[in-house]
Amino acid sequence: MSEPVIKCQNVYKIFGANAEKMLKDSNGNVDAKTFQENGCIVGVNNASFEVSKGEMLVVMGLSGSGKSTLLRCISRLTDATGGKIFIEGQDLLQLNNKDLIDLRRNKMGMVFQSFALLPHKTVVENIAFPLQIKGVKTEDSISKAMDMVKLVGLDGRENYFPRELSGGQQQRVGIARSLAVEPDIWFLDEPFSALDPLIRKEMQDEFLRLQDKLQKTIMFITHDFDEALKLADRIAIMKDGIIEQLDTPANIVLNPATEYVRKFTEEVPREKVLLIEDVMDKTKDNLGNVRVSKDEIIENVAEKILTQEKSVAVVDNNNNIIGSINPAKIINTVFGGRKNNN
Ligand SMILES: Nc1ncnc2c1ncn2[C@@H]1O[C@H](COP(=O)(O)OP(=O)(O)O)[C@@H](O)[C@H]1O
Ligand SMILES: [Mg+2]
Repeated sequence: MSEPVIKCQNVYKIFGANAEKMLKDSNGNVDAKTFQENGCIVGVNNASFEVSKGEMLVVMGLSGSGKSTLLRCISRLTDATGGKIFIEGQDLLQLNNKDLIDLRRNKMGMVFQSFALLPHKTVVENIAFPLQIKGVKTEDSISKAMDMVKLVGLDGRENYFPRELSGGQQQRVGIARSLAVEPDIWFLDEPFSALDPLIRKEMQDEFLRLQDKLQKTIMFITHDFDEALKLADRIAIMKDGIIEQLDTPANIVLNPATEYVRKFTEEVPREKVLLIEDVMDKTKDNLGNVRVSKDEIIENVAEKILTQEKSVAVVDNNNNIIGSINPAKIINTVFGGRKNNN
């Protein structure tokens, strides 16, 4: 496998005057309560993980769990108190100021919940702005910005001012602006949290469509478990600065690692998350003529399977049969006890 784009090793971020000393004395065993009694607040507690090229890691947790702090460490908007962070193999903490600015301007894109648009600039000017900061000629920057306007579906609104746009449209501008510099790594901190539910859903779909096309390496933050399940290749669930579990949506729903994680998964309709591959049997005997792809979400093919008498063949991308699934399994998955792990 190729080198991870983002790699964190035992990353800590602790706020407070004595943070470094206390971390050192603790030998890495950070107890948030003890630290707090000594005037330190634990933001991130011993985070280790990797994100590979083209992958979307969603960091999910309630407010105050350390999501933004983790992201800020990785984009080096703040310095981690301990641990190592590598971006494409480069030790982030070793970079000098100039290299750091280069990295942020050319490699990283960021989108925040507050759209942070410049109120006196138009849509296209807002999007062109980061390019102009990079020294791109005005004409070229506007032309590139217009491409981005189209990409996020704002054609015809390029000369509007932010105040003339809805929240969803403003966030499209934020997304377009961050994409204009063609970053390889994309950080999004609760980009849709301020939007109404319907607009939010529309933005999520749009975002998946974009990512399908662009294949960025993404860290996406949300406090919404459903949003995480919908978007993520893998999810990191944070609580009190600690990553409680990091796994695929299916594995998190099937095998929650802690009681805390299990609570989130309780209400999740399994058929919306699990793929055929996650629940199929390995046997290939006694199959009917019907086939389903291993990559289908159960919900989308449940009816097809439930109307068969025999087991249905499960096929891979090359149409080779790799297993089978029968109606009973579907019923069991949908209605079976959500509280145990089978
Ligand atoms: N600059 C700061 N100084 C002190 N404490 C902070 C600072 N920034 C964040 N924190 C604390 O770190 C913890 C994690 O915060 P944050 O990363 O913003 O959480 P989230 O993004 O998950 O809501 C919280 O307890 C928060 O109060
Ligand atoms: Mg936050």
